[in-house]
Order: sequence, then C-alpha cells, then structure tokens
Amino acid sequence: MGTKVLITEPIVDEVISFLKKHHEVDIASRNRFKTEQDVMEVIDQYDALLSMLSVPVTEKVLKAGKKLKIVANHAVGYNNIDVQAATKLGIKVANTPDVLTEATADCAFALLLSVSRRICEAQDFLRDGKFDGWDPLGFLGLELHGKNLGILGMGRIGQAVARRAKGFGMNILYHNRHQLPADQEMDLNAHYLDTMEKLASESNIMSLNCPLTDETHHIINQHILDLLPEGAIIINTARGPVIDEEALAEALHSGKLGGAGIDVFENEPEIHPKMLSAPNAMLTPHIASATRDTRYAIGMLAAQAIHDILSGKPEKSIPNLIN
Ligand code: GLV
Repeated sequence: MGTKVLITEPIVDEVISFLKKHHEVDIASRNRFKTEQDVMEVIDQYDALLSMLSVPVTEKVLKAGKKLKIVANHAVGYNNIDVQAATKLGIKVANTPDVLTEATADCAFALLLSVSRRICEAQDFLRDGKFDGWDPLGFLGLELHGKNLGILGMGRIGQAVARRAKGFGMNILYHNRHQLPADQEMDLNAHYLDTMEKLASESNIMSLNCPLTDETHHIINQHILDLLPEGAIIINTARGPVIDEEALAEALHSGKLGGAGIDVFENEPEIHPKMLSAPNAMLTPHIASATRDTRYAIGMLAAQAIHDILSGKPEKSIPNLIN
C-alpha cells in the first residue's frame, strides 16, 4: 500500500508535484484545517502531515494520527506543534530553517523603513488630495543613521536584520538566550545586553526576531513598553503573542511609541480593533516569508523531509528534523 501525505493548504505546484511522484497526496482547500478537531477527524489516514503554522498539531492530533511518522511544518517557527508529545509518540517533526532568513529580514527592514519615514501615512495624505506642495515640516520621521536598533532574538533572522542595519549606519544592540561568539559580534558590530529592560531602554527601534516560547510570550508588555524611549518604533516579524497587542495599541494611541510595523498578530487572523485604528502602524498579513523563491524553498524543504522519512533515509542525514 502506498504512503499518504496530507497538505493542509494549497502550496507551490512544484512541491506538490514532487510529493505526488512518490506518494498519494491530498491537498486541502484554503482554510479547511483551522482547529484541532478538523485535523483529528482525518489524520488517521495519513503517514505524513505537511502543516501550516496556523494548524494546531496538539497531543490529541498526534495521538489520532495512528500511522503518522512525520509532521513537517511549512514554516521555521513551530510553536503550533507539540514537539514533546510527538517525540513521546515516535513521530518526527521538521521545520524550514535558513531558506526564509533573507526574505524575512527584508520584510522586517521594509516595515522598519516604512514606519520610520511614515511612508504609509504620507501616501494616504497624498491620495486623500491633501498634498499642497513641499512642506518643510511635513512628515518628519526618524533618521536611521546613528540610531540604536535593539534586536530581540539573534538567531539567523536577527543576524540578517543586523547585517542590513549595519549598512544603514545603525548601532546594533541585542538580547538573546546566548551571547554570540566575539568574532560574530564584531562582524555584525552588535553589542549584547543581558536583560530585556536594558535592551528596551536603549532601543530607538526594536525588531522582534525570537521564536514564540513560554519565555517569550508577552515579553513585550506594558513594563517593557514603558521603558522604551519616547517615540520608539517596534517591528514584529516573529510571532504575534510575543507582544501584548492591547498594550502595544495603547502605547501607539497615547503617542508613547512613534510607530509599529507588525506582520504577525496575537489571534490571527483577527486583529485587535485598537491596532487597526492606531496611528503610524503599518500592518501586514503575515507575509514576511512571502517571496516566490522562498515559498518554493520552504515547501521543498518540508516535502523533502517527508519523503526522506517515508522512504527510510537515515534521520541523521535530514538536516531540518527537530526531534
Ligand atoms: C513564518 O512565520 C515562519 O515561521 O516560517
């Protein structure tokens, strides 16, 4: 009997064709799998699950997957998967590191530039017919050169953001679980701060590039927002729940923050209504890895791990297994 793979959303065609060459593949329609229950109802038929980050792969789901050998997440972040339960059940988990680093850092920087120079506000002003000629006081933004960029999470993506910031003449500060080796710090011109409090009080702009874990849930909260310098900007391309969204919205409305570039939200796809009305907030629908090249590479990396596990390749030779 052939092996069966479930893909929980339509993804890039070439990836589907690759898997179809070797396995029986079911591709769900858009948003078919939203809840634990949705997946539990069908998962017992499948040997492999290619899941999106929006699909809760809980212990219950994994237990219902009687034949399941691997869950490959179509994302680098895998906070939607109970890896501990998977390990206990002997189910492999894979993610897609490296391939989305540059695209995500590009997007973080696109948000950073747009918000610091008030590009969206300025465009709305022009489209509203309000442009009445060059204004020496119009849309004064935050100049990047010489300002402090605080990076929370100095993994691959944080480092890629730092490389870009170096080119813009910013001072790079970071907080991370571990300090980088000295040569890497020197390369990036990055200075380690050992607490979140120190990072916040020195960051004109803060970029969030950490995974979502118990430790980072709401790590950006009222206390940290209060410590940021007046007019600071927050950029989030990590995971929504890293920020207390209500507190962020309040800080934007009160004028404490100068702006925010937010690609990820606490309860996607819902957005806190106060965020939608917040001034100088550039909000995008979780698109940081959305380039054609990257989405192809993400899909292929996840699909390859599935194919390798189902065809009995040695686990040591599969680079993106987590457990
Ligand atoms: C996207 O958010 C990812 O984690 O890859």
